[in-house]
Amino acid sequence: MDALSVLVLDDEKKIIDQIAGFLQKKKYQTFSASSPQEAFAIMEGQHIDILISDIMMPEMNGLEVLQKIKAEKPSIEVIMISGHGDMDSVIEAMRRGAVDYLRKPFGPLDIQLAIERTGKYLNLQNTLKRTQDRLHILENRNSLISRELENLIEKEFIGSSKAIRNVLDLALKAAEDKDISIMITGENGTGKEIIARIIHYASTRKEFPFYPINSSAVPETLLESEFFGHVKGAFTGADKNKHGCFVLAEGGTLFLDEIADMPVNLQAKLLRVLEEKKVKQIGGNREIAVDVRIISATNCNIDDLVREKKFRLDLFHRINTLKIDVPPLRERSEDIEPLISYFLQYFSRKKNLPVLRVDKNVITELKKYPFPGNVRELRNMVERALILRSGETLDLKDFNLNRLPLSDMPVGFSYNLEKQEIETIKKALLKTDYNQSQAARLLGVSKDALFRRIKKYHLEIRKELT
Ligand SMILES: Nc1ncnc2c1ncn2[C@@H]1O[C@H](COP(=O)(O)OP(=O)(O)OP(=O)(O)O)[C@@H](O)[C@H]1O
Ligand SMILES: [Mg+2]
Repeated sequence: MDALSVLVLDDEKKIIDQIAGFLQKKKYQTFSASSPQEAFAIMEGQHIDILISDIMMPEMNGLEVLQKIKAEKPSIEVIMISGHGDMDSVIEAMRRGAVDYLRKPFGPLDIQLAIERTGKYLNLQNTLKRTQDRLHILENRNSLISRELENLIEKEFIGSSKAIRNVLDLALKAAEDKDISIMITGENGTGKEIIARIIHYASTRKEFPFYPINSSAVPETLLESEFFGHVKGAFTGADKNKHGCFVLAEGGTLFLDEIADMPVNLQAKLLRVLEEKKVKQIGGNREIAVDVRIISATNCNIDDLVREKKFRLDLFHRINTLKIDVPPLRERSEDIEPLISYFLQYFSRKKNLPVLRVDKNVITELKKYPFPGNVRELRNMVERALILRSGETLDLKDFNLNRLPLSDMPVGFSYNLEKQEIETIKKALLKTDYNQSQAARLLGVSKDALFRRIKKYHLEIRKELT
């Protein structure tokens, strides 16, 4: 086979230079384009074997490019470039026929492996074309993809403690039944969403969407339409038809995050959809059949909420067939060391740093630290330590543990936890000039978690005008 010809499509010049530079050095026939239009023009005039395309581009997104190629030039194999947090788009791309993906940040070895894998696949395809055995190729491609994804999920979930292994076993067992409703409970940052994704991708629903929806992050007036969709003209501002999350998640998993924040009137409507397995858009009269698995998550004690009548008992029973409780990090301190190594590797790679060593004392001290923000807090600590590091080895002063001995508490200090929380949030907002994303990062909680507390305590989210 002649040298493969590869076209690189990205709106970022830096990425094009990185990939095209590497390919030229390896003597691949290389083309580059900074917009989909330019790429399609090249594909008209040149023979291209492989297209490496970014997912996020301003004019036409990579998924649309992929779809157009699969429709018009199906012999070109496509490798997607994904940013951090684009996992759902990657999975969607695989479903639409992409052969592989590169995850940012990547190095020369990643590019080489992806090209070689695709080259092997193209060879196989050429051989099989002669025997017209197309079916086998498809099977081969699917097994290649799912193995990759399974590896990825397994690699990203870290933990060797008995407690977390039990959680993982239970999650995998639950995945075997594609319909059972699962409720995941646990403190902030314990990994509830990762567990939900593991269940989805380990189940037979994995080829369909994993669709997260967070009641506390959507304004109450829009919630109902987010869930059920609406028809054009149903209310002021409804200028086109919109599908709700049940339809968008069809066949897959609907992840109801922060379920305890769902308004009570919506709880009743949700229950009806779950019982009847049918949904009607707001203002519409057609019932659409839905088939989704529900996984919900909360960091509240939902039994208490049921007792206080803030959460409907009937809905609670409907979504709580199986409960998985993710223990806080302080109760599984064996996981701290492997998590640190994992985050160190992850961030060093991302920031192009050599992987640094961690002083033994750090591990000993961290094992005594209570981690109110759990794994997310540890992750942020490692990232911060990498930025602030003073030497070749990360030591205690790089990990700002923030643990005031009780005798050093300032005068006027209150032991009331709620007061403390309010004060700390106010300080973080002030320090970050009311940028909620930065404040959340500083506090070691998710943006949603911060938003919930701002709502709960009725805090100012804008600077007072002076
Ligand atoms: N076992 C783990 N291995 C690797 N990373 C983890 C693990 N558990 C949690 N994380 C990381 O910690 C962060 C928080 O995890 P996740 O979002 O799943 O928590 P959560 O319980 O949903 O939090 P919240 O209650 O704030 O929504 C994420 O960045 C996640 O990748
Ligand atoms: Mg979460």
